[in-house]
Amino acid sequence: MTLPKRYLVTSALPYANGPLHIGHLAGAYLPADIYVRYLRLMGRDVVYVCGSDEHGAAITVKARKEGITPQQVVDKYHTMLRDTLFGIGISFDIYHRTTEPIHYETSQDFFRELLKNGQFEEKMTDQYYDESVGQFLADRYIIGTCPNCANPDAYGDQCEKCGTSLSPTELINPRSTLSGSSPVMRPTKHWFLKLNEHEQWLREWINTGKNEAGVQLHDPAEWKNHVTGQCNSWLDGGLLPRSMTRDLDWGIPVPPEVPGSENKVLYVWLDAPIGYISATKQWAKDNGKDWQPYWKSEDTALIHFIGKDNIVFHCVIFPIVLKAHGGYILPVNVPANQFLNLEGRKLSTSKNWAVWVHEFLEEMPGQGDALRYNLIKKMPEQSDSEFTWKGYQETTNTELVNNLANFVNRVLVLTHKYYEGKVPEYQADMTFKSGFEVGADGTVASELAQLNHKITELIGFIESFNFRDALRLVMEISSAGNAVLQFNEPWKAIKEQPETVKAVMNTSLQIVAALAVLSRPFIPEAANRLREMLALPALSDQGELKGLLDALGNGEPLLAQGHIIGEAAHLFSRVTDEVIEVQVQKLVDNQPISVAPVPETTVSDVATASNQPTSTPSTYEALKPMIQYDDFAKMDIRTGTILTAEKVEKSKKLLKLSVDLGFEQRTILSGIAEHFSPEDIVGQQVIVLANLAPRMMMGTESQGMILMAENSEGKLSFVSPAAGWPEGMGVK
Ligand code: MF3
Ligand code: ZN
Repeated sequence: MTLPKRYLVTSALPYANGPLHIGHLAGAYLPADIYVRYLRLMGRDVVYVCGSDEHGAAITVKARKEGITPQQVVDKYHTMLRDTLFGIGISFDIYHRTTEPIHYETSQDFFRELLKNGQFEEKMTDQYYDESVGQFLADRYIIGTCPNCANPDAYGDQCEKCGTSLSPTELINPRSTLSGSSPVMRPTKHWFLKLNEHEQWLREWINTGKNEAGVQLHDPAEWKNHVTGQCNSWLDGGLLPRSMTRDLDWGIPVPPEVPGSENKVLYVWLDAPIGYISATKQWAKDNGKDWQPYWKSEDTALIHFIGKDNIVFHCVIFPIVLKAHGGYILPVNVPANQFLNLEGRKLSTSKNWAVWVHEFLEEMPGQGDALRYNLIKKMPEQSDSEFTWKGYQETTNTELVNNLANFVNRVLVLTHKYYEGKVPEYQADMTFKSGFEVGADGTVASELAQLNHKITELIGFIESFNFRDALRLVMEISSAGNAVLQFNEPWKAIKEQPETVKAVMNTSLQIVAALAVLSRPFIPEAANRLREMLALPALSDQGELKGLLDALGNGEPLLAQGHIIGEAAHLFSRVTDEVIEVQVQKLVDNQPISVAPVPETTVSDVATASNQPTSTPSTYEALKPMIQYDDFAKMDIRTGTILTAEKVEKSKKLLKLSVDLGFEQRTILSGIAEHFSPEDIVGQQVIVLANLAPRMMMGTESQGMILMAENSEGKLSFVSPAAGWPEGMGVK
């Protein structure tokens, strides 16, 4: 395949309704940043765009919660997101926002063009409407039970638990998030994009990489399996027309000349990806460039970096929008990542189970690169992965401090000590023990050839979006450098074999020089400091890696003999037990009911994690929707004692109990027969929901409910007051 002429790289626009956590970073921002930094170092033409996603119910729901206007919400979080992302070194060429005028124009023009091209079906449909607040309930204004996974808090547009995309009418038991009430149906008009008419070419394009004219646009083998798989399962389910408008008072207005457009705004998932285009336009304007080739020329490679919950929007809906408009290219790849877990549990904004990136930057100054390194090492490229603080500590200390920083420091210190900071001259045929090929003899030239080989391999990994493997190779190069020192022991050999030491030290210096460039995509600040230490000009991110490869290919050194290096400087700090204990404690303290973190069980961590509890489950039932105190106060819960228990005929599950509540006795049918035998539970103290409406079951009236705890394997346990506690007492 010939190289693309230019690249347009995007990261998912984060919603401007909250801060970023490490899962966002590992999912959509770090991989894109590595990739574009690499492309720049190869001298390629690349523009990397992103911005805040500032429309949709995600914003207005937040405004309501915080008691401020949607505009105030997006202003606040846009600033925060921008500062956080730049703070952790994400090198966007532009970080835009979807409330900018240029974006309104671009989005409305798209709508007009789609309308003109007959891509919409205008339909009156019944939509949920909350009568108590007088508002239609789109997307996040409505929650209910997911028909796919039974999550009780699925949104009207998507279930965040299983990732399924939904429409409000699919929800079981729908509730308004504005008032909690059950909504009614009301007719309203919307514009539906006829996704169904695009099925055929889309299937072709995703599975063969060819467009309708048979032109090969991408190699489908380069797409991740889970991405193609998700697309096909969508296509297999059949695409339905999808509404591209909403009844909301926050969003981009449907173009006013369109009849019936009053009070209608564009669906946020129509406008947001178009944000990539408006951001590119703004970037071009600011830089005296033309935006059009980046979006319209077949020799551009468009690449979207996203998390897996965004796959359908970037691989199905947005491509359809681009095609339906006409004149735009399609993405050449959408290397979506899976999810990152934290200490054994899913990252969750609503449950505050997260490491917030802005807090990390504040609490751990100077450790941004260490966080990047750890997240790249654990990047969920092919499957879900896990971040733990223990792992953070171990990785930082062993790989960044003991391996990389230690190697660099030794090389610099020894160079100053032996040669007054000058890169030593050496005899070309001088042999020493190889760092790359343990047990073999090496020369400077053969070591540099090995280095070249490793770098080529590393580049192959980056080109195929295997960033974890690429990072591993950076570290292998550093290990090889350490090995050169360790096997040849210059500190011992300097007296007897000064000529050998010159070759050894020269090799080591060349390896440091290579690392100063190779580490740049992953740990950019550290790379800068390496360049400073070597007294090389700061990286301009314009072809330095290409230059390095050319030099190695031509047998030229990366650091010339006689070049005078700078002073050794601090690179990475050891992470202490106290630091991570504070972080783990903070996570636990943030929980309404404190939950012990689950230790990671990867091989390398088993030894250090063994002193932690191992029986804690790794998944928890989703919390039910918030209730008010009044809802709780309606329940009358009492202490009681089981007087008699017997099996119910023809029922596998039910036991018939008589329960003493002190002031009266009740008959209660309880579904515990598979867990307890009747004779074992007579005399058991229990907690009873005493004002539950009576229900007939198997011909007997049950007058209340026994409360039980259930674990993740479905085992039941009685919940009871202290021994000897009287019956009939209230539980509050
Ligand atoms: N804001 C969305 C999210 O956080 C992502 C939007 S990506 C874009 O899930 F393509 F629409 F911009
Ligand atoms: Zn679900």
